[in-house]
Amino acid sequence: MAKLGISILSMDYMELGNEIKAIGKAQADFIHLDVMDGYFVPNITFGPDMVRQIRKETDLFLDVHLMINSPEKYIAEFVEAGADKITFHYETNEYRIEELIKKINNCDVKTGIAIKPNTKVESIKPYLNLVDSVLQMTVEPGFGGQSFKSKTLKNIEKLSEWKKEKNADYLIEVDGGINLKSAKLCVESGVDSLIAGSSFIKATDKDEFVNRMQSLRVSTINETL
Ligand code: DX5
Ligand code: ZN
Repeated sequence: MAKLGISILSMDYMELGNEIKAIGKAQADFIHLDVMDGYFVPNITFGPDMVRQIRKETDLFLDVHLMINSPEKYIAEFVEAGADKITFHYETNEYRIEELIKKINNCDVKTGIAIKPNTKVESIKPYLNLVDSVLQMTVEPGFGGQSFKSKTLKNIEKLSEWKKEKNADYLIEVDGGINLKSAKLCVESGVDSLIAGSSFIKATDKDEFVNRMQSLRVSTINETL
């Protein structure tokens, strides 16, 4: 069974309270919060205060995806605001990854490492036994509503192979352009956890959408969908 997180990036922020309720009602597994600084990616979103507000509205697991330079400076603030997991980008801090992972682990939250579609997946291999999850970006980070890049499936297959080889337990996650069609390809390639923004917003029956995404698993894909 796949886990499903919902990204609030493209939601109507004036309606966020209701949107958060809808995510809970549909029984998604977690909420994905995209933090962007205008430097690491060409877009700006929100900071710890927004996470704090959302924390007050829900008990769901809050997955904070930091698309910012110098993520080490902000970890404590996001944790204090209520983050349950901090995912940082390998590309922001290639030389001090272990320190950064330790810093997140020491805050007693889950740790995720993310890579952009063009980053070599081999570059994060040394850290796979130190993190809880690996986030393969399946679009260029920065904006919601883009199309899934299928070339990233090769990386997912490698992550999945290495996981089996090493008997490791990191979750493989994908983010960007995830809908029922791309989600199937991802799960077939070994993904454990899906993140969806626009496809959730567009779904008319949100409960059914969440249920169908969560029901994806390698053995049933061909039979049921
Ligand atoms: C992109 C973000 C994604 C995005 C997903 O930089 O990290 O989380 O919100 O949105 P969709 O599903 O619309 O691609
Ligand atoms: Zn994201």
